[in-house]
Amino acid sequence: MIKPITSMKNAFDLTGKTAIITGGNRGLGLGIGLAFAECGANIAILCRDAKKAEEALEELKPFGTVCKSFSCDVTDIKDVRRAVGEVYEAFDQIDILVNNAGVSCVSELLDMDEELSDWYSVINTDLNGTVHMTYEVGKRMRDAGKGGCIINVTSNAAFIVNKTQAMSPYSCAKAAGNHFTHCMAVELGKYDIRVNAIAPGFTNTELSRHIPPDMFDYINNQMPLGRFGEPIEIGALAVYLASPAAAQVTGTVQVIDGGYILSC
Ligand SMILES: NC(=O)c1ccc[n+]([C@@H]2O[C@H](COP(=O)([O-])OP(=O)(O)OC[C@H]3O[C@@H](n4cnc5c(N)ncnc54)[C@H](OP(=O)(O)O)[C@@H]3O)[C@@H](O)[C@H]2O)c1
Repeated sequence: MIKPITSMKNAFDLTGKTAIITGGNRGLGLGIGLAFAECGANIAILCRDAKKAEEALEELKPFGTVCKSFSCDVTDIKDVRRAVGEVYEAFDQIDILVNNAGVSCVSELLDMDEELSDWYSVINTDLNGTVHMTYEVGKRMRDAGKGGCIINVTSNAAFIVNKTQAMSPYSCAKAAGNHFTHCMAVELGKYDIRVNAIAPGFTNTELSRHIPPDMFDYINNQMPLGRFGEPIEIGALAVYLASPAAAQVTGTVQVIDGGYILSC
């Protein structure tokens, strides 16, 4: 059983914990990594772009925890198995898994190519990538018998049909990611593994940089809090979910979107 906190002292401390973050080399993943490292965690970044990973490791350096990167394509279960094996050789134990890697596409279904490559690319990364990582890391967490924490980065797009851009594969992958979170919270609770999702709204990263300026203004006007989120704000929520303060929190989907889904 996961022990409850008895005071707020060190309630958000991650000292000595090690986190795997997929897509931790930029954007939200890097924001989460920086927040974790500042709270004392070691970081294993899994991604495909090694150069970006080196740059991320430089940014993480000032916090003085052990941070390393590993090449991994989350769409490929065999590659995930190899990469997770390498992470476990480098770190004794993994306490936190953040399934953050994701891609998006903007297209109506009927305008996609005949192979539906956009559909499969998004589902294979955002949904199946999360399943692959959870399978490989979850088994090792279970066998180590020390519990763990899994955070799936989904999206507020899971709850709405976005009027500004058609993105059915993305919305469906993220909606399934939220329910996968519920299912895993029930299946893995007996191993003291907590599973939660963060569903961000529009946040300032590469992914959102392609939004045309007029649409950018429209979205900000729709948003009760009037601005895009910042990666460190997603990081702060991830720190809470990974920390002793959240020992009793599992199976939740935490929307962090400036109130956008309430008013779009
Ligand atoms: N930004 C937003 O407004 C927003 C809103 C809601 C939800 N989100 C979610 O937040 C997560 C991160 O988004 P972001 O905005 O930070 O996007 P981003 O800047 O485009 O970064 C995407 C990350 O995913 C990694 N990735 C993509 N495909 C991968 C694969 N096959 N294997 C391993 N890694 C892969 C990328 O690394 P490599 O290319 O090096 O592999 C990169 O680190 C995504 O799940 C996204 O859906 C973002």
